[in-house]
Amino acid sequence: MNSSENKLLIAEIIELRRKKNAVILAHNYQIPEIQDLADYVGDSLGLSRQAAHTEAEIIVFCGVHFMAETASIISPEKTVLIPDVDAGCSLADSITGDQLRLWKAEHPGAVVVSYVNTTADVKAESDYCCTSSNAVSVIETISPEKEILFLPDQFLGAYVEMITGRELNIWKGACHVHEKIGELNLAEKQKEYPDAEFLIHPECGCSTSCMMKSAMYFDCKDGSVYSTKGMLDRAQESDAGEFVVATETGILHRLQKDNPGKKFYPANEESVCDYMKMITLENLHDALRYNQYEVKVPESVAKKAFVPIERMLKIS
Ligand code: 13P
Ligand code: SF4
Repeated sequence: MNSSENKLLIAEIIELRRKKNAVILAHNYQIPEIQDLADYVGDSLGLSRQAAHTEAEIIVFCGVHFMAETASIISPEKTVLIPDVDAGCSLADSITGDQLRLWKAEHPGAVVVSYVNTTADVKAESDYCCTSSNAVSVIETISPEKEILFLPDQFLGAYVEMITGRELNIWKGACHVHEKIGELNLAEKQKEYPDAEFLIHPECGCSTSCMMKSAMYFDCKDGSVYSTKGMLDRAQESDAGEFVVATETGILHRLQKDNPGKKFYPANEESVCDYMKMITLENLHDALRYNQYEVKVPESVAKKAFVPIERMLKIS
């Protein structure tokens, strides 16, 4: 598509959004064109909060399926659309409701804390949801005597365990994009950009090694590990002029836009989530035009899944 076709499509999307009283919510990993026209761009927690408070009749979710499902559970009276129903998540796929039911049966009485990157069926079996922004705070609200099942991300689980000092039973799931961002990437980038500050998402494979081998390159216990929203905040408040960013590369657009005087380098240029990139201007346009594809969670599941999500939204 050339730039004048792009401009036309963007103008049509803006007009359809107005006519249909819709809101466009986009995750920080979306393509730049979508981030630039969205009403709100944010991390999983921020997007859930927006879904809870919007006055619009239609929420078009530019992100992946579990995010749209979460929005539908929070706001069941709204129409929630995702432009491509196949925009999934390898991390959410790493545990099913049946697997969780079996795991719970092996640990009777344990409190289940599920990362928001899970299906509605898994959330319905959980006591708390959390995101990378509030996982530590969620664990800290649970009584120290309680056994905890933490799922599905093993790297986020290990990070939370180290920060809180709590022993967790951790599911061995991972995101196929983040698990490949390893310590070698950090070592290479540190050689290349010796003055850069590192911003690391806790889903990354490197977050664990960096926390354990303290001061191997730098000590992650002193900071460095952030949710995508945490990265955006940190980049603004830091005095550093250069940053190495260990997460999906889509966030570089917003980092650069918010901080024109600073430089941002991906820890691994290949860290691209194909699922996030399935949302395009064309299918966003069609979503608004044809009201497709609606994401609706069966009421019995949604009612149960709402409880852990609501608890998550109360903890910042
Ligand atoms: P955030 O909660 O930091 O936005 O991360 C979501 C996600 O999918 C990470 O891959
Ligand atoms: Fe899922 Fe990983 Fe993509 Fe995030 S980056 S949506 S965790 S597959």
